[in-house]
Amino acid sequence: MKLTVIGCGYLGATHAACMAELGHDVLGIDIDADKIARLRAGDVPFFEPGLADIIRRGLSSGRLSFSTDHREAARHASVHFLGVGTPQETRGHAADLGHVNAAIDALVPTLTGQHLIIGKSTVPVGTCAGLAQRVAVLAGRDASVEVAWSPEFLREGFAVEDSLAPDRLVLGVNPASTASSAPAVIREVYREVLETGIPLIETDWSTAELVKVAANAFLATKISFINAISEICEIVDADVTTLADAIGHDQRIGRKFLNAGLGFGGGCLPKDIRAFAARAEEIGASGALGFLREVDAINMRRRSAAVELTAQAVGGDLLGRNIAVLGASFKPESDDVRDSPALSVAAQLALYGAAVTVFDPKALDNSRRVQPMLGYAGSAREACDRADAVVVATEWAEFVHMSPDELDPVVRAKVIIDGRRCLDPWMWREAGWNYVAIGGPVTGTAAGADARRDTAGRTLPATVTALASRRILG
Ligand code: UDX
Repeated sequence: MKLTVIGCGYLGATHAACMAELGHDVLGIDIDADKIARLRAGDVPFFEPGLADIIRRGLSSGRLSFSTDHREAARHASVHFLGVGTPQETRGHAADLGHVNAAIDALVPTLTGQHLIIGKSTVPVGTCAGLAQRVAVLAGRDASVEVAWSPEFLREGFAVEDSLAPDRLVLGVNPASTASSAPAVIREVYREVLETGIPLIETDWSTAELVKVAANAFLATKISFINAISEICEIVDADVTTLADAIGHDQRIGRKFLNAGLGFGGGCLPKDIRAFAARAEEIGASGALGFLREVDAINMRRRSAAVELTAQAVGGDLLGRNIAVLGASFKPESDDVRDSPALSVAAQLALYGAAVTVFDPKALDNSRRVQPMLGYAGSAREACDRADAVVVATEWAEFVHMSPDELDPVVRAKVIIDGRRCLDPWMWREAGWNYVAIGGPVTGTAAGADARRDTAGRTLPATVTALASRRILG
């Protein structure tokens, strides 16, 4: 099929490449000329495992091309996916629909004949109805343009896998329409994917819009729930990781997304729960989502808790201390530092007078742009040079598998703060380190540790076991 994807950021570029991978003839459009030039050259403007390969494959097969000209979209196809960003408003918690509106305004007047716009961006409930009105005003007399919504659930780090093998597809159409073309189109677009048994849930606009924000609100709530429990564990010296393992065995609860630590960040969960609560207030249901404020507050408290824990570990005062922060991205396998708990902790430590040196395997350039005043190093070892404490803030595999011997010769004091509860406390303590974990002690028994032993015989904490099975963390 001939398809266009409007907006070639994280979501759009991945979607365009994956559609080409499914055999479609795809044109990606973005107003950012620099981004388009890079994509045309097969250069992905952000780090996402596997994406560069399929973009290059799409480009060389001729099935994937990019342009900055919306008029080309009208010439290329009659099915247009919308993947532009919906960031948090600058002066509020609501979603900023500026990019969505701008894309519609640029595209719709250029269309003639029958067209279908399928939105993928995360939008507040009621957006489709508003956009349909906008489209009706903008469309020429010889154009018939339908709006449908199929929210995207992809996780950074697993974007390609999530696009080609999603847990489910959702399609929302105008509830008043009796002859929507969208279900047949989506079945054709995703034929190969649907043939593998992945469910397609067909519904109305509002339900589809809500599915996405409800999913993210649930995930954020699950993380904040375990982090709230970890606040109790800290006081009574209980082990929140063992607790999560234990409650996670209950099929109704499940172990995924129960890793306590620095909490959630990134370009989705924080802004989505805020926009959802803001929308609830607008429609007169603020009470219904009042708890999301608490979810947000619990999450933010983890960052200051990590700073306090670090201060305590270095004797109470951060002023003049050298602190190494390992990890800056909001999660491993990503170079995204938007609302990153790791970078926020690094900045707060600096605010209290510590000399902070950050290392991240992929997010150094982005971090320097956001926090230019922090120190940066080219390796974990370099960041730890004369450190009074080492804070592990993102559970990159290279930090999880790091051996104390690597850091012993360079640090000033053997103090390690495990912000993601991802290290092996026994190993660090045996090597003479003062190991402290955010969220209370790691007391787990030998039996519990055995259950998490990897093939090399090294004891791995729950987070790593989770990473190994891929689906748990993300
Ligand atoms: C999320 C949703 O998972 C995805 O479906 C949606 O489309 C976009 O938002 P993403 O932002 O890529 O995806 O990150 P995710 O893997 O969900 O992790 C979010 C944050 O939660 C990360 O900062 C991660 O470190 C944190 N997290 C995750 C925890 O603190 N504990 C956990 O148990 C799991």
